[in-house]
Amino acid sequence: MASLTIRRLDEAVKAELRLRAARSGRSVEDEVRVILREAAAGQAPVAPPAEPSPARAPAPAARTPGAPASIVLIIGGGIAAYKALDLIRRLRERGLHVRCVLTQAAQQFVTPLSAGALADERCYTDLFDPQSEFDAGHIRLAREADLIIVAPATADLMAKMANGLANDLASAILLATSRPVLLAPAMNPMMWANAATKRNMARLVADGAAVVGPNAGEMAETNEAGIGRMAEPLEIVAAAERLLRPHAPGALAGRRVLITAGPTHEPIDPVRYIANRSSGKQGYAIAAAAVAAGAEVTLVSGPVMLPDPPGARIVRVETARDMLAAVEAALPADIAVFTAAVADWRVAEAGAQKIKKTAQGSPALTLTENPDILATIAQRRDNRPPLVIGFAAETEKVIGHAQAKLARKGCDWIIANDVSPASGVMGGDRNTIHVITRDGVESWPPMAKDEVARALMARIAGTLAVNPAAPAAKERA
Ligand code: CTP
Repeated sequence: MASLTIRRLDEAVKAELRLRAARSGRSVEDEVRVILREAAAGQAPVAPPAEPSPARAPAPAARTPGAPASIVLIIGGGIAAYKALDLIRRLRERGLHVRCVLTQAAQQFVTPLSAGALADERCYTDLFDPQSEFDAGHIRLAREADLIIVAPATADLMAKMANGLANDLASAILLATSRPVLLAPAMNPMMWANAATKRNMARLVADGAAVVGPNAGEMAETNEAGIGRMAEPLEIVAAAERLLRPHAPGALAGRRVLITAGPTHEPIDPVRYIANRSSGKQGYAIAAAAVAAGAEVTLVSGPVMLPDPPGARIVRVETARDMLAAVEAALPADIAVFTAAVADWRVAEAGAQKIKKTAQGSPALTLTENPDILATIAQRRDNRPPLVIGFAAETEKVIGHAQAKLARKGCDWIIANDVSPASGVMGGDRNTIHVITRDGVESWPPMAKDEVARALMARIAGTLAVNPAAPAAKERA
């Protein structure tokens, strides 16, 4: 079989080929293949009709039906670039085809070799690479992708994109594409909070970019924390899947899911309060997974340092009593998941003014019990959600204590987890849970909190599919 090197062709033929390829939305190589196929079949090669400027022409279909979706992953230059390597693996696990583009700065953190090896495809780095640019490779990369992901999306890359700069391969692709773009910003909290970054973000969102994260947490810099950590690879994958299949009905489509999350703060006086170490991460991950599964989600949240899960209705509260009122106001619901670490007690009479030190010694705080939100909802006669799920945070005898809670509170399931300091669950990103129902105990392997959330949604959807007796809350409302 003869082989053809397009680079060696006559300049005029190459120019004609590029024009044909641009008109038909194919790469130059594919255009040559079509011409050869037509010639072999005895047809006179038909030039595609001239169209208006490719910039204004509708984007051609990027793939044939059934072919795996194709992602261009642009890796920006930030410390979070190492997480982009895991992201490649996660995308490929889901059968997606991944092509990586590394900016110059990204190559200070990860190498084209490692990204290419994980993607199983050569990596692209240079706008002026004669190998890929002889047929305007940046246009091809921009056009052949079903989705472009920028992770980490650095402040610099987003500033370029917001202003239409195109002086390297990554920015040229972003300017040349008509495909959806998903940004996973990552930067120092001061940079994220800067007015220039906020302006650029607002511009990009107005231009149609989708955004996932950034999350709150510790920074690479010593003693720095705040909002600016790149979203976890699985969060990015979930956001990508939503963009790739925007119209797919989710497993919980048409269902109302009510979730509580985070700690509650119980005032002692106007400046002090009783709190606990709950980060809210598991509840927020469940809210995001429920949105991804197509549910209508209300998240009643205590004070946390987390970005809002896109697509959920958020009701912010401080105290246990406010949380109960917000939960009752959000009924009816089909599924209620109570992940909040509600303070069991509050100060019976919180001071109206700051309590001052006195010669009489320390003040005595009298505590009184807070309402049990889970038990109140699970034991309602009217408007009880058909599936009420509680969480049990335990530090010992995890399953035994959780089984007792299931009986005492009257809920349908309890998700038990070990929150002893050694487990690293409180504030951490992973969780090991046991799903306790009246039928028994399922112990799940350790998973990232967002994996737990997705698996839980799948488990709930499976239960509703087997037992669809209750009409959706929407129909009952
Ligand atoms: N819960 C609630 N309202 C409360 C206390 C707990 O809704 N006042 C819910 C939690 O959201 C969780 C479940 O009840 O779903 C169990 O919470 P947990 O803190 O583990 O148990 P407690 O009921 O507080 O019991 P204990 O502190 O004795 O373990």
